[in-house]
Parts: sequence; structure tokens; C-alpha cells
Amino acid sequence: MITIEASILAADYARLGEQACEAQAAGVDGIQIDVMDGSFVPDITFGPGVVRALRREVDLFLDVDLMIVNPEKHLRPFADAGADRLIAHREACPHPHKVLGSIRDLGIEVGIALAPGTSLSAIEELLELVDLVQVMTVNPGWGGQPFLPTQLDKIRRLRRVLDERGLGVRIGVDGGINTTTAPLVVEAGASVLVAGSAIYGGADPVAENVAQLRASIQPK
Ligand code: DX5
Repeated sequence: MITIEASILAADYARLGEQACEAQAAGVDGIQIDVMDGSFVPDITFGPGVVRALRREVDLFLDVDLMIVNPEKHLRPFADAGADRLIAHREACPHPHKVLGSIRDLGIEVGIALAPGTSLSAIEELLELVDLVQVMTVNPGWGGQPFLPTQLDKIRRLRRVLDERGLGVRIGVDGGINTTTAPLVVEAGASVLVAGSAIYGGADPVAENVAQLRASIQPK
């Protein structure tokens, strides 16, 4: 089953609740909330209060992508605010084994994200600890960037490793996911698609954009 998550990084921040509800009505499976701290990535975005507000607005899976340094300092507030999954970025974690264990101890799903320049070997010892590996298909920090096709091979290799080890870990992709790139990443082995610009950008309504994205990954 392929999961589509709307990334509110690309939404209208003056209407976040409405835009989350529009995505829910359009049939997305979740909302991804990109938390940025101005250190791990240049921008500063959302805190636990936004997660709490969205928790009240939608019944969707809330996937919190912690693009922050020292994620271990912020896990419980996001979990208490209603996050269903916390994703830590491998490059922000000197002690990833401990960070992922701390997320697990909160009783929610565990994710690890890999930037385009980070090899799979950096998470080889962590795969048993996570529910999801998020392969960044752009460099973290901004929405609307072009998809990096070089990550397709990484997705394929990761899928092979997970299957060989009999791990039911899902592969997520984030960055430049649209009707053109979505079929490519699904074919490579991804099953959680995070899309911002493809859902909230452009002139078409959110519902139309979600429908087009869903249609693009239907078996031909
Ligand atoms: C990068 C962000 C983006 C965002 C989705 O740090 O994580 O990938 O979620 O961006 P687009 O607009 O490419 O779907």
C-alpha cells in the first residue's frame, strides 16, 4: 500500500488548519510537518504547538520530520503534542542508536532520514530500530527543489537490504515528489511519498493535485 503525506512546508501558513483539512478531504494518508531550527538547515519553521493545533484539526497520521540539531532534546514535546512518528536526520545524530531508542520509548513510530550525500552504510546498524527510512530526494532545507534521480539507486539498494534482512521497514521519499517522479520512486521500492509543492503549489485545487498524484502511481 502506498501512503501519500502532504508536506505543510509548502502550505499557506496563514491557513494551516484549513490546508491540512483540504489535504484530508482530498484523501491523503498523513501530514508531514517539517521542523527546521535554523542550524541543521537554514530556515526556521514549526514547533510542537503547530503539531498540537493540527492534531485538533485532522484525524490523519502526523509525521514530524525533525530537521534539527540535537533532536534528542525535543522528542517528548512533539510526541506529547500528537506526533505519530518522529524522524531524526542521520547527519544530526552523533548517537543515532540512542536517539531512535528514545523515540521508540515514547510509543510512537521511529524514522531515520538520509540526506542525498549520506551512504546507506551510515544506517546499516540502525535498520532494526526503525519503522521507516526516509530517503531525501533533495537536500534538506527547502521545498520546491528538483528531484535528484541519483537517489533512485539508493532506494533500490535499500529495498534490497531490507528484504534480505526480512525487515518490514518502509521507505519514505521526500523532495520533488510529483506525478512524474512518484512512479519512479514506487518502482524503486518506496511506499511513503511526501509531497509539498505537488499538492499545495500551482493553480489547481489541493483535491485535484492529490488525485493526480494518486493516479500517477496506480498500476498501469
Ligand atoms: C526539504 C523538505 C521538502 C518538503 C517537500 O527539506 O522536506 O522536501 O518536505 O518539498 P517539495 O515541495 O519538493 O514536495
